[in-house]
Formats: sequence, C-alpha cells, structure tokens
Amino acid sequence: MNRQLSLEFVRVTEQAAIRSGRLMGRGDKEGADQLAVDGMHAQFALTPISGTVVIGEGEMDEAPMLYIGEHVGAGGEEVDIAVDPVEGTNLVAKGQDGAIAVLAIAPKGCLLHAPDMYMEKICVGPRGKGRIDINASVTENLRRVAEGMDRDVSDLTVVVLDRERHEKIIRECREAGARIRLITDGDVAPAVECGIEGSGIHMVIGSGGAPEGVLAAVGLKCLGGDMQARLLPHNHEEITRLHEMGIDDPSRVLTLDDLVKGDDCIFSATAITECNLLRGLRYFGGGCRTSTMLLRYKTGTVRFIDTIHRFGEEKPAVKL
Ligand code: FBP
Repeated sequence: MNRQLSLEFVRVTEQAAIRSGRLMGRGDKEGADQLAVDGMHAQFALTPISGTVVIGEGEMDEAPMLYIGEHVGAGGEEVDIAVDPVEGTNLVAKGQDGAIAVLAIAPKGCLLHAPDMYMEKICVGPRGKGRIDINASVTENLRRVAEGMDRDVSDLTVVVLDRERHEKIIRECREAGARIRLITDGDVAPAVECGIEGSGIHMVIGSGGAPEGVLAAVGLKCLGGDMQARLLPHNHEEITRLHEMGIDDPSRVLTLDDLVKGDDCIFSATAITECNLLRGLRYFGGGCRTSTMLLRYKTGTVRFIDTIHRFGEEKPAVKL
C-alpha cells in the first residue's frame, strides 16, 4: 500500500475521536458512537482509497454507515478496512480511561472477516513471540513469556477484562504470582501496548469481541508481537457463520497470520479518553489536541502523532 496513505488514516481516527469526545461522561454511549461513525465516515469520503469495510458497525441492515461490505473512500487503491469508531463506548459514556477510535487497513483479502461474536485471545509483545500457546494453561503461558522476557512471573503485568467468565484466568494469574490489571472495557489498547516495551503491560488474556481481536492483531503484527485466538460461537447460527467463513472446526487456533495475512498493514488509534500511551482529547477555545499511534508493518515505523486542530475561520493562538 502506498506509504503516503498512512497519514490519511490518522485523519480518520482523529475525526472520529474529536467528534465523539464531546460526549465524554454524558452517559450516552450510543450518541458517542454515532458521532464517531459520522466523523470517520465523512473523513473516509476524502481519503484516496477504494476501501471495503470488513469489520465495522454491523451488517448492512443494522447500521446505516460503516456497515460490513460498505465501500468507502474517494477512489484509489483497493484495501480492506476494519474500524471501531469508539472502542470502549462505556468508557466514553462514563469519562473513564482507555477509549480509542481505531482502524486497521490491509490489502484486499488480508483481514479475517471476524463476525460479531466472542473470541478467546492471548496477546504478547516481541519477547513473548513464539512462546504462547492458547491450548496450554495460563500458568504455563506466564512461565514461558516470563522466561522470554528474562524475568520472573511476578514481574509480569497481565490485563484481563473484569468479567465473571474470567474468574478461572484471574485465579490462575494470582496463584502464579503475576500482577493483574482488571479493566472494565477496551481490550484493544492494552493488547497493542504489549508490543511496546516500557508500556508496563506484558500480556492480555481472556475472551472479548472478535472484531476487536482482529484490530489488536494488526497492531501487534506491526510491532512484532504475537497473538493466538479462537472464535467462540455460542449458538447454531454462530457456528454456521464460522462454516461460511471456511472454519469447519470451531476449536481451530488462529495465529497472528490467520488474523492478518501478508506483509502490509497499517494501524491507527487516536485516544478519546486518557490512555496508557496516548493522551486523551484536550479541547480548548476554538480547537482540540489529539494523540495518535500510527503503525506500519512494512517499515516497522511507530509514530506517536500529537496534533493541534484549529477549527473555524479565526484560528486561535497555538499554546503548548
Ligand atoms: P464496546 O463495543 O462497547 O466499545 O465494548 C468494547 C469491549 O469492551 C471490547 O474492548 C471487548 O473486547 C468487548 O467489549 C468485551 O465484551 P463484553 O463486554 O461482552 O465482555
């Protein structure tokens, strides 16, 4: 994919974040999501690509914009697009940390068309690469990753969504002596943070959304991290969806390369609320400041982009 496009995608997540951030703490998660969708959709219309949404806001009959299969862009290279205009809608609604506007781009056919169901995931950074096994126990995975990172299990911090279904995982982490950060929502940001040394996050484990799993996989692939996953269909309809995707065995382990194929992908995330590595939106009279992480697999570039947006005709003075 043309490298010039990368910055175009930053504009897309910035617009989603800027619009939805206005509703921070207002208890309106649907409203915040809608504003982000509007922002993303409008910005895609100005982006020189011929994109197909493969992970988006739902099926065509469920979502008017950014639905699966929608063609977006002003024309250009054919790419597949995965979006989550607000990853962590509850976090925005409550003004809590960890919400991002996020997208991933890859050439046509390279992103797993993950349906809206749960996915079991284990995510680690580059020093955990090749050491994880979703079929092994949590204890064993912690031991192997700690070894790869040249430290004790007690020096690892594991992020787990605070859900009843994760009781066993949490117990095992505690028994093994790992530190745990329980989060209420938003497992994409911490998954990507595993790929950056110094983030203080070493593993994300548990089940969450499958679409979020593909977004995390693109981020981790760009950073040289690793991930294994398994789709978790809960009913006959979901099993049929898997068959339609060519997955006959629901217990099949999906590797990073199954989630995102090839050697070309881009990931962009703009913070809405405060994040571990990104600053939340800061509005000021006549403008707003955003913080974005832009990753590109081809070159391995990791960009942290701090942008001051000035609205309207009369541009306010820039302050640091
Ligand atoms: P939203 O779709 O409301 O933004 O929620 C995102 C999320 O917290 C993901 O980060 C996570 O993968 C999933 O929901 C967890 O699902 P559940 O809340 O059903 O456990």
